[in-house]
Amino acid sequence: MTLATLLDALADGPRTETALADRLDVDAETVRAWIGALREAGFEIDRDGGYRVADVPEYGLGVQYGLDASFRIEFHESIGSTNDRGRELAEAGERDVVVLADRQTGGRGREGRSWSSPPGGIYLSIVLRPDLPPARTGLLTLAAAVATAEAVRAVGVEPVIKWPNDVLLAGDGRKLSGILTESATAGGAVEWAVVGIGVNANVDPAALPDGSTSLLEHIGRVRRRDVVQPLLEAFDSRRADPERIRTDWRRHASTPGQRVRIETSGGAVVGRAIDIDDDGGLRVATDGGETVVAAGDCEHLRPA
Ligand code: BTN
Repeated sequence: MTLATLLDALADGPRTETALADRLDVDAETVRAWIGALREAGFEIDRDGGYRVADVPEYGLGVQYGLDASFRIEFHESIGSTNDRGRELAEAGERDVVVLADRQTGGRGREGRSWSSPPGGIYLSIVLRPDLPPARTGLLTLAAAVATAEAVRAVGVEPVIKWPNDVLLAGDGRKLSGILTESATAGGAVEWAVVGIGVNANVDPAALPDGSTSLLEHIGRVRRRDVVQPLLEAFDSRRADPERIRTDWRRHASTPGQRVRIETSGGAVVGRAIDIDDDGGLRVATDGGETVVAAGDCEHLRPA
């Protein structure tokens, strides 16, 4: 039983204390305590003719209110890394939890890099127990990139996806968002996956590394709930549908057709990107023939 259940009940319309107590199977005193906790979290809740939500915080637990996806939000003002917390929850057997934070003190990027995480950004990690073979976990990353691209487009920013997981500002090439998926396997199957997404939202670009930009720079301050809810809903509706993930990724991606250089653990692959394969790997035409790259840092090169 969590505040999420109370928020679900309130989202359906005004509710008397008795009706809430019945629905949540608690006493009236507990209902009042939880309503107090929601007010503490920034909700404005009226009490005429039943409890009614009058205003919702732009982030934090505000993301839970009216969320049309089967995720529970765990919010932290400040945390080391949402992916580290996601891993803890995953190892404890949890699923479908989203760890959300206003800032990270130890945000992690791919290849052991750090991820700049000042207050005002969006930092979240989705804890999953997916029904996927290990070779297909890359599709979760692609699904997250599609969901992020659609969510930033919904607030008025035109994105493109660079394989596998960078969401860039279209026509500009600077980075708006990055994704770090981590997973564990057991008995040849994926036991859990944590999909970490960082979006440079209400962040001064001067606080970000070169080559990055933020929503603030392009459209001003956003209500982060307006980005995170569509993102989670878009991810939720695709996560179990590989065909749809691939189709939608192709619609947003700028990598196919480009000359690319991909740094992989086995060395650099240079050639023309063709398309993704069934597992989300990138098919590349090189001088030595076609090869598939499962993971790596991808750079778009000027045409030869
Ligand atoms: C990258 O492009 O290098 C990936 C960046 C991923 C950053 C996100 S922010 C939320 C989650 N928690 C982390 O520590 N990292 C991911």
